[in-house]
Amino acid sequence: MNVQFPTDSITEIQCDVLAVGVGTDLKELADLDAAFDGQLTRETSAKQFRGSVGAMLHLPTFGRIGARDLVLVGMGDGSAESRRTAAGRAGREARSLRAERMALHFPDSSAEEGMQLLEAAAAGNYAFQMYKPEDERSPTVESWQIFASASDSDQVQAALKRIRWQGWARDLVNMPPADLYPESLAAKAQDLASIDGVEVEVWDFERCQAEGCVGIVAVGQGSDKPGCLIRVTYRPKGAADHIALVGKGVTFDAGGLSLKPSSGMQTMRCDMGGAATMLAATGAIADLGLPVAVDCFVGAVENMVSGNSYKLGDILRYRNGVTVEIHNTDAEGRLVLADCLIRACEVSGVSTVVDAATLTGAAVVAVGSDFTGLFTHDDGLAGSLLAAADEVSEGLWRLPLHAPYKELLKSDYAQIKNVGGRSAGATTAALFLEHFVKKDGPRWAHLDIAGPAFLDKASTRYAPGGTGQMVRALTTWASQLG
Ligand code: BES
Ligand code: MN
Ligand code: ZN
Repeated sequence: MNVQFPTDSITEIQCDVLAVGVGTDLKELADLDAAFDGQLTRETSAKQFRGSVGAMLHLPTFGRIGARDLVLVGMGDGSAESRRTAAGRAGREARSLRAERMALHFPDSSAEEGMQLLEAAAAGNYAFQMYKPEDERSPTVESWQIFASASDSDQVQAALKRIRWQGWARDLVNMPPADLYPESLAAKAQDLASIDGVEVEVWDFERCQAEGCVGIVAVGQGSDKPGCLIRVTYRPKGAADHIALVGKGVTFDAGGLSLKPSSGMQTMRCDMGGAATMLAATGAIADLGLPVAVDCFVGAVENMVSGNSYKLGDILRYRNGVTVEIHNTDAEGRLVLADCLIRACEVSGVSTVVDAATLTGAAVVAVGSDFTGLFTHDDGLAGSLLAAADEVSEGLWRLPLHAPYKELLKSDYAQIKNVGGRSAGATTAALFLEHFVKKDGPRWAHLDIAGPAFLDKASTRYAPGGTGQMVRALTTWASQLG
């Protein structure tokens, strides 16, 4: 991928697709309309294109300007967020138009905004085509021309890295479960090992048993594919801070004996979305050489049905003493995360633990696919995560980590059970996790990414499937630590 900052005019620029951000006043069309003898205005009014956010109008140019195709994208009121949404929409359209060279024109873009627009457009341009026949694949944009103040080459390289790691996470989420299972996920984690300062260590299933990772063992034992615990460490020179990132790596969630219906199972390859997010964020942080030490823990398992599946009524005894009675084998993610959170809190020097998981359908109901649910007791941590997400226009919304609801987790036979009941499902899941975070230990935040991790159909900004949301937000957040 290469990036240029053209000095040509908008009508001269040579490319496959020229995307122009258009506000509701449509004033951005004026420069172009002359080249089209006024036909552009006629066309936009006939097609009722009014520049609202997410609106798109594609027009072939028939050689009237340098670009082969013109894509008008609505940026509404022109807010930073609306402009990025529009850039994402344009990137997605460029894919349908099979563009390899794309120009982005958004009025008055600073150097910094130019990179944000590039990242949004590239995210929109992503497609998962590994399993498509050769002749059905469409090219990716390789050459970007950004009408913005020029960024220096370090900034461009950083943007390209963030784009690459977000795409890496999406590939993992999209891969079918026959090809992406715990051991192959661990093999993918080895992609990070080539980066300076990064080491990857994998505990196989026997080792997990020996080390008392009871959640990974209980959930994983029902599958023919052995589960594992993946640990990636990044140790930069002169680290200003040390964080732990924990990801749910359920490579397929059938629900176990509390079996999901087919409809609920169709997309459950996405249940390792938290793992993909955290591994990718770790990869990006290390690739960018940020001065933040990272320990990334991923519990990788398949939640399946077999003669060896864990059962309702089973009681797990965790390493930190907490006992958990199983009331629903489909609430498996929290069991696996518990092992990882315990480990993460044991790493010396870690100031902050953040976990990401496709944890609950309740989070999807609460905030939908545009938002990750954020749970934390720490207002400072909440503020910095929300600000970072906002900077890259990824939806993040704080939800209550309401201590009194811990009552709902009480068990008659163990300390807690693994489900809380119908109400506040995302909160009770978060409260469950809190039992495995060391008291008076590191700050902790939980991200329930069940909504944005995987889209059933295309949104304005993303193709269907994995979105890799929170990879760039977490990378940005890490860059602001210390
Ligand atoms: N992986 C699911 C949550 C999920 C649902 C992710 C939809 C993405 C989209 C999780 O393991 C699960 O099954 N959660 C249950 C918990 C319940 C049994 C307490 C749920 O949300 O129904
Ligand atoms: Mn489940
Ligand atoms: Zn799950």
